[in-house]
Amino acid sequence: MLHHPAPRIDEQTIRALPKAEVHVHLEGTFSLLDMLTLAKENGVALPGPAATLFDISTHDTFRAPEVTTGGGAGAGSAGLSGFLRFLDWQCGLVRTADQAARVAYAFAVRQSASGIRYSDVIVNPTHWNAWRGRELALLDALAAGFDEADQDGLCRVGVAYSLLRAQSAASAEDAVDALVSARPRRVIALSVDGDEKVSGRTGEKFRRAFATAAGAGLHRTVHAGESSGPEGVWDAIDLLQAERIDHGVRSIEDPALIERLVTDGISLGVCPRSNITLGIFPSWAEHPLPALLDAGVTVTLNTDDPAPLGTTLESDWAVAAEQFGFDYADLVGFAARSIDASFADPDTKAGLHAELSTLAEVVPA
Ligand code: ADE
Ligand code: ZN
Repeated sequence: MLHHPAPRIDEQTIRALPKAEVHVHLEGTFSLLDMLTLAKENGVALPGPAATLFDISTHDTFRAPEVTTGGGAGAGSAGLSGFLRFLDWQCGLVRTADQAARVAYAFAVRQSASGIRYSDVIVNPTHWNAWRGRELALLDALAAGFDEADQDGLCRVGVAYSLLRAQSAASAEDAVDALVSARPRRVIALSVDGDEKVSGRTGEKFRRAFATAAGAGLHRTVHAGESSGPEGVWDAIDLLQAERIDHGVRSIEDPALIERLVTDGISLGVCPRSNITLGIFPSWAEHPLPALLDAGVTVTLNTDDPAPLGTTLESDWAVAAEQFGFDYADLVGFAARSIDASFADPDTKAGLHAELSTLAEVVPA
């Protein structure tokens, strides 16, 4: 790989690559139209003008008392905590099973439009406050939307049920016990997300919940090494049995951790644009993605929360290629790794690999 600015690869070429996305939050995929429609249906006032709804720092509703930064547009200037408050407000607009199914279907449409053929999607029910105590009903409603999308030939979806970093051990264990006994369709993994910096080290707190999930055959994917340092990633591996790390970019600060990721084949679901917008790294040039690749870590390239970040997967891949000097063969490699890293079933993976290798033989002009 070149790792210096290169000519931009056409987004159409990227869309054509059969691929998976493994680090994307359903909460981060509501379009402006989805949100306006839901707000109108529920008679809820917007926190600001439609044109600036995703400029999260401009709305008092999401601003934390400690956040004083005013500069810059987009989610970043509100920081991760303000961003998570925005997700609470937005997901609070989904109140009926039909609305939840519609959001799920729209997700599959959005993924399909980027040429994503399979997606693991993170769903954190704590953001969906109208469903408190009815989390399994929420999953059921979402599954109806994903099923319909599947029938329509759109992106196939597996759900990673996500705990929130700030929730208690007892509520996490209750949630996982319910999950394991009901085994709702489409749920294939347990996840944890939220702001690690605010919650501090939480590996011990969630150890039992993740052990229960592993014992029941659920996959494990853990947000770590985003607002936490390498210690968050160590905890994810040693205490939570993580098979994948969401972000994990700050692993680069610890050579022993890098060695462990490589030896154990634990992949990082990296989202460079999210990291830059949310202030984890100041610029693309300072992002450790090339260093992680050079160190031999398995990396996938994802969006995290594409709607409020104002992006698409093909745009992020194109910018990454331009910034880091990836050529077409490198992007084919990212597509192949995304399929391998996903929690799709073996037949889906084999089908996507077969299509990708047929396509990869024809290098676009
Ligand atoms: N939930 C949605 N986006 C997130 C992020 N970038 N970090 C932690 N939790 C999240
Ligand atoms: Zn994430």
